[in-house]
This record gives sequence, C-alpha cells and structure tokens, in this order.
Amino acid sequence: MYRTHTCGELNLGYRNIDVTLSGWVQRSRNLGGMTFIDLRDRYGITQLVFDLDTDSQLCMKAREMGREFVIQVSGKVRERSSKNPKMPTGEIEIEVGKLNVLNPSSLPPFTIEDESDGGEELRMKYRYLDLRRNPMKKNLELRHRMAVEIRKYLDEQSFLEIETPMMIRSTPEGARDFVVPSRMNPGEFYALPQSPQIFKQLLMVAGFDKYFQIVRCFRDEDLRADRQPEFTQVDCEMSFAGQEDVLNTFEGLARHLFYKIKNISINEPFPRLTFRDAIEQYGTDKPDIRFGMKLVEISDLVKGYDFPVFENAGYTGGIVAENCASYTRKQLDQLTGYVKRPQIGAGGMVYVRYNSDGTIKSSVDKFYDNQALRKWIEKTGARPGDLLLILSGERTRTQTALSELRLEMSRQLDVVNQDDYAPLWVIDFPLFEWDEETNRFYAMHHPFTSPRHEDISLLDSDPASVRAYAYDLVINGVEIGGGSVRIHDENLQKKMFEKLGFTDEQARKQFGFLMDAFHYGAPPHAGVAFGFDRWVAVFSGSGSIRDVIAFPKNNSGRDLMSDSPSTITGEQLRELGLQIRGR
Ligand code: AMO
Repeated sequence: MYRTHTCGELNLGYRNIDVTLSGWVQRSRNLGGMTFIDLRDRYGITQLVFDLDTDSQLCMKAREMGREFVIQVSGKVRERSSKNPKMPTGEIEIEVGKLNVLNPSSLPPFTIEDESDGGEELRMKYRYLDLRRNPMKKNLELRHRMAVEIRKYLDEQSFLEIETPMMIRSTPEGARDFVVPSRMNPGEFYALPQSPQIFKQLLMVAGFDKYFQIVRCFRDEDLRADRQPEFTQVDCEMSFAGQEDVLNTFEGLARHLFYKIKNISINEPFPRLTFRDAIEQYGTDKPDIRFGMKLVEISDLVKGYDFPVFENAGYTGGIVAENCASYTRKQLDQLTGYVKRPQIGAGGMVYVRYNSDGTIKSSVDKFYDNQALRKWIEKTGARPGDLLLILSGERTRTQTALSELRLEMSRQLDVVNQDDYAPLWVIDFPLFEWDEETNRFYAMHHPFTSPRHEDISLLDSDPASVRAYAYDLVINGVEIGGGSVRIHDENLQKKMFEKLGFTDEQARKQFGFLMDAFHYGAPPHAGVAFGFDRWVAVFSGSGSIRDVIAFPKNNSGRDLMSDSPSTITGEQLRELGLQIRGR
C-alpha cells in the first residue's frame, strides 16, 4: 500500500498511530540534529521529522531528498512542539521510521509555491508543475465543483445532457472556423463547432425538450484574457419556452451556484437592463454595476461655444469622479494618456474641477465660462470636490472609451469590493449590427434569433432598430452567457436570411438541414449558453480564464508545453491531398 492517509488529514486525533504517506518534497530544512521535510500531495502538507540521534542513516538519507522528489514514508504521528495554526495538519508531525524514494526529480525550473518565481511562459511550458501549485489546484477543484453543481441543478430540472458532434459542417458566420481535412473525402473539410447551436435546435425538433451539455467549443478569433481558441460552454436549450422561461430557469441555476459555491444567497430578482440603457448608462453591454459613476451625455450643453472638438462630435459625455477635484496635473495627463491609447482610441480628454470651495476650473476655460460649466455640473450631478472627466467624438466609440475610463477610475479609486458579486441580465439586444467594412448587416447574436414580435413590422423599414429576444448574463462586468428565443417559423427565418444578404441558395447550402427539419414540426424553443471558463474565473477571482483551464493556449494560440500547432509530415499532407504553398 502506497499510503494509509493523505497529507491533508492527520491531526492530534491520530496521535501515536502508525501511518504511511506518499507525496512530493515541498521543502526540507536541516536544524542541528533534526531534518524536517514538508511532504505535499493534492490534499495538503504534512511535516516529516528525522532525528539524527535516533537513526543517523535515515536522517542522512532524508537530507538527500531534493525538491519535488516523490517519496513514501512510514512513521508515528506525534504532537509538534511548535504548532502552526495556519495549517490543517499544523499540530502534528510524523516521526519517520522508513523512507522510500519512489522517484527522484530534476530541479524544477521555478518554485512550486503559492507565489511562484516563474514567468507565465515558463509556467505554461511546464504546466504540469504549475498545476502542482496551490492556487492552480484550487481553481481546478472549483471548476470541478461548479460542473457537479450545474449537472445536479439541471438534472433536477429534467434537463438531459446529450453530446453533439465535434466534427461538423463549416458555417462561417460569427468567428472563423477551425477546419479538419477529411482523408476519406479528399478536398473536403469538417469544422470544429463554434457552439452546438444547430444541433441543440435539432434536438428540440427531435423532442428532447430540455437539453444541456458541458461542451468544448472552438473559435479562431483574436485572443484576450477572457478568450481561448477552445473553451467550454454550458450549453442549454428548452422547448415550449420563451424568454421569461429561460431567464427564470437559468437565474435559478446562477442562484444555485452562488449559494453552493460562494455561500451567497441572492434573494432579489437579478436586475434587467435593456441593451440601450446599458450603453447609455455604462457605455458597454457588459456593465459592472457594483459601482455608480454612470455616463452622462452633455452633447446638448456643449454646442454653440466655438469649441471645434465638441461642436463636430456626435456625442459628448462624462463621468463624475467623486472627491477627485484635487487630482494633480500629472494624474490628469496620465488619464489622458490612458484614454488615448490605441485600444481605447479617444482623441483627448477634457476635465472640470469642481473644487471644494465651489470654484470651477476646466481645461476648456477658453471656450466655456462659469455659467456654461455650471450647467454641465448640474446635469452630471457633480458635487464640490468632484472631478468631471469628459470625452467627445463618434457616439459608440466615445461611449466605449468612457466605459473604459469608468473602469480605470474604479481601479484607481478602489471603489469595488472584490468579494461582491453583481449579476444582471442585459436584454433587448438589437437583432442586427451593421458592418461598415462589408457594408452589410450581421446577426448580432446569430441568424436563428427571433426579433421581438412588436418589432417584426420594422424588419423592412428600419432593420437597425429591430430588437431581438436576446439576452446576456453579466456578472461583475464579465459576459458570462448569452442566448435567445429562436425563430421556428419558416417564413420569418427566410426573411432573416434575406436581411442578412443570404440568397436562398446560400442559406440552403449552409443551413439546409436545419431548414428541412423545421418542416417537420419544430416546437417553439429558446436557449442560452454560458462561458464556463469565464464563470469559474469570476468565482475564483482570476484575471484570466487561462488560470482555470488545465492546459490552455497562450495569446498566440500556442500550446507551449507540447509546442503545437506544429507542421505535419509530407506523407500526412499527401494522404490528405493538401499542399502547403511556398513549401
Ligand atoms: P455566444 O457566442 O454568446 O453564444 O457564447 C456564449 C458564451 O460563451 C463564452 N465565450 C467564450 N469564452 C471563452 N473563450 C471564447 N473564445 C468565447 N467565446 C464565447 C462567453 C459567451 O457569453 N450558441 C450561442 C448561445 C445560444 O444562443 O444559446 C453562443 O454560442 O461567455
């Protein structure tokens, strides 16, 4: 038997008992005649002690144990003279009588401690060592517990977990597909699913009225802290259900997770914000509503004063930074630099100091007198001591930039308690979004999303203003999930394809099998999918979903450990009927 107990479970209740433990050498210390080793496994750390006087040979052997050696020890549990109340096993130690090296270890390239000295690249290359660290282990444990609770909750609600294929037809709407060449069908390709969207709708046609799946999805898109090329969704669909049913069911799931995982009871209904209000008030469709500092538009107050920047802008608006009137010139310059960064893209920033003594000083005093500035102050609700930060330009870009500035100020002012959680639904997304580059409408969610009934009549006259039955779950400024009510009416779906610029033939080619299925009694249905990695990251307090994925890719989509993607042999290419250009 390799072990009788784990390294996390022994305490004074086991005093004088003989035990055998196996694990990794976390660290060892020689103190005079004693050698101490901290032995680690998945469950914790136990202190081992070797006494030179009792068994000098064993003690000398213990001194040879390097970091990360895998060893097995047998001995007696005894009370420690100096206890460590921070450790669950901190009251005891093992007086070792036998030591067996199960496997030596090379010196690890970084320290396997809560705070490692290894850079991210190095830790990704040796991911299996990084995963030995406590914070990483905790994240994967959390991920497991969340998956278990999701399955429990949905099972109780009669949802069935059904798997859908990983090699499917390419339908390049949305992100780019990852494709897989078919050897048996030369020149033809499968795609890896961006989501099981079409399959879950087909499962509704097949009569499985409540489906879910914890499923891997693949998208070839630019990567960020909250995006991976392969990621996991909790994908769900319901028949004979509309928006209210979906929101209620999955608000229930969110409550269940908050309670079971974070021990937080949320009794009030989640707030709901329309897409339009979210943009007007927060400049983003995924607002962090744990703090105020809402955007206030002042476009109508700034025109007519010969300040060309504001005069020609589609939008001028600001946020009030409380008690920041005393910000120094340097701090303001830094903020201006922040909003002018290419990722944010503002042309500049205007500020108004509403000093504690009631005086007003702005960066545009040349154009605006006190009376004009007072109107801005009134409209934005600034109080003496506050600082007004104003951006101006094209409406959407400026709102987005203000949203970033709002987040930056929340960080600078430390207004958010990181243990607070603020979930909300954003609803009434637009059905379409216009793309300047290709000069066409795209489905904001996907082409199967239903317009709101009262807006159907606008499909021809004013498509841009048509709202969809589409919704997102947002927690702490992170888009956790999104879904919609689906179109189940053939004519409406045809109209949708037409608006998206698909010819009948193109629509049939891409989605023909779904359209065919809809001839055979498709029930009304609706669904949602949650980004599982993002949800785990938010609950774990991680800044990146990489921290909650066992083997993630880096920002260039590479797996640094196995060094993939990689080239394949000429033979493999030949079999697949492929040729790499320029090779
Ligand atoms: P959507 O595209 O909004 O909807 O995706 C649902 C959720 O998946 C997460 N997500 C990602 N997480 C990590 N890396 C990525 N690259 C990534 N892309 C998306 C987000 C997002 O909210 N089929 C529809 C759902 C439906 O209509 O039922 C869909 O996939 O948290």
